[in-house]
Amino acid sequence: MIICVGSVKGGVGKSLISTNLTVLRALKNKRVLLIDADEQGTSGDWTDHRTDLGISTPWTTVRLKGSAVRTEVQKLSKNYDDIIIDCGGRDTASLRAALIVSDVFLVPFQPKSFDIWTAQKVSELVDEAKSLNDKLRSYSFINCAGTRGRDNDDAKSILSKIDGIKLLPVTVVLRKSFSNATAEGLGVIELNSDKKAIQEIIALHDAVFKTQK
Ligand SMILES: Nc1ncnc2c1ncn2[C@@H]1O[C@H](COP(=O)(O)OP(=O)(O)OP(=O)(O)O)[C@@H](O)[C@H]1O
Ligand SMILES: [Mg+2]
Repeated sequence: MIICVGSVKGGVGKSLISTNLTVLRALKNKRVLLIDADEQGTSGDWTDHRTDLGISTPWTTVRLKGSAVRTEVQKLSKNYDDIIIDCGGRDTASLRAALIVSDVFLVPFQPKSFDIWTAQKVSELVDEAKSLNDKLRSYSFINCAGTRGRDNDDAKSILSKIDGIKLLPVTVVLRKSFSNATAEGLGVIELNSDKKAIQEIIALHDAVFKTQK
């Protein structure tokens, strides 16, 4: 499956989710290609960090930009079971190129009003992308949720009404273990210190891959 993890907003957790999904797919013995399509290079740096620490990295990571995201995915897709594309936090040529070749557009939202306001822009982007790629399915979910409070429910209520993007029944909470794992070049399942975080990322993984036809 080809998954583009993207948004029109920075800092919502795209790289954290891309890297954790990569780890989970690799643990299932899938041949995984992680594409860092963001010039910041977060996913690429995370893989490099991991390699420097001597941690096994049973997937391939490449850094690509602009239309190369589309052309390289077209060339490489037959060699991989799954391709996960970490896109930058803006509407870029790389994001649009990724959406042309993806099966799934996965969009994290944080339950803050500034983030939720971007949902309409994402909906317009999905609409355009669908006209070029009719197999594209788009899903949102809440990342960095609070453990309590009305914000999560308010955000879900808004996201559930956005055209063309289905809200997944999964919430990933703001948990120190996620950022701790990333800092150590790991996925949260590998850090193995927080059962709730592991359950949440597995639930997200299962929800995304269950959508496979
Ligand atoms: N569920 C979470 N719990 C704790 N920390 C998180 C969670 N999700 C993301 N973070 C942290 O929030 C910060 C931003 O996450 P990340 O870099 O994945 O976002 P991004 O959308 O890729 O950002 P950018 O748009 O800059 O590429 C990072 O420090 C990351 O570790
Ligand atoms: Mg990022």
